[in-house]
Amino acid sequence: MNTIEAIHHRRSIKQYDPNHVMPQEDVNTLLEAASLAPTSFNIQHWRFVHVKDMNIRQQLRSAAWDQTQVTDASTLLVVTANTQSWQETPERYWENVDQTTQETLVNMLQDFYRGREWLQRDEAIRSGAMAAQNIMLCAEALGYQTSPMIGFDIDKVGEIINLPESHVIVMMIAIGKGTTQAYPRGGQLPLSEIVIENTF
Ligand SMILES: Cc1cc2nc3c(=O)[nH]c(=O)nc-3n(C[C@H](O)[C@H](O)[C@H](O)COP(=O)(O)O)c2cc1C
Repeated sequence: MNTIEAIHHRRSIKQYDPNHVMPQEDVNTLLEAASLAPTSFNIQHWRFVHVKDMNIRQQLRSAAWDQTQVTDASTLLVVTANTQSWQETPERYWENVDQTTQETLVNMLQDFYRGREWLQRDEAIRSGAMAAQNIMLCAEALGYQTSPMIGFDIDKVGEIINLPESHVIVMMIAIGKGTTQAYPRGGQLPLSEIVIENTF
């Protein structure tokens, strides 16, 4: 399956085979694909909570309007992101470049984010969302279905997973073997409405 096919084929699926076990190799492939998504200044804000404990998954399901995919899908990831990544040893985001370039980039990124809390949060969400899409398209290529979710009590989910103060929840993704077809598409807006030439 090529990338364009994966994009067209991906749909949100809500019902999953609860008996299917995803091989660890596939979980690794998904997480590695996530880690290769682009981020501003290569900050890689994302932190993926792979919830394996069925008791915790049950608690998450209760906090998520009892959506069955939370417990039934083979794999459940809570995509979170650290809004403070920009100031947590940022040298490691550029460890492979020469020292002058590294210093320049680290100074630039710190000047860019310092004091701009709204941007720190925006960037964390932006990075997490990019990673989430990589996960979903990679899952598609591996023959799985996915369900992105924000339909849950965000504070409650944060409590359940012990979310650090500096982190935000981007979304949950259930991944596994779907047992139902997707609903017909809700309806895509025409390009004539969503594409603006040059300026609004
Ligand atoms: C961030 C995000 C959160 C979503 N939350 C939920 C959810 O909690 N429950 C659900 O059934 N679908 C959820 N969806 C799925 C959307 O309803 C779905 O993506 C949209 O209707 C388009 O359908 P498609 O994904 O099949 O193309 C979510 C999608 C996104 C991107």
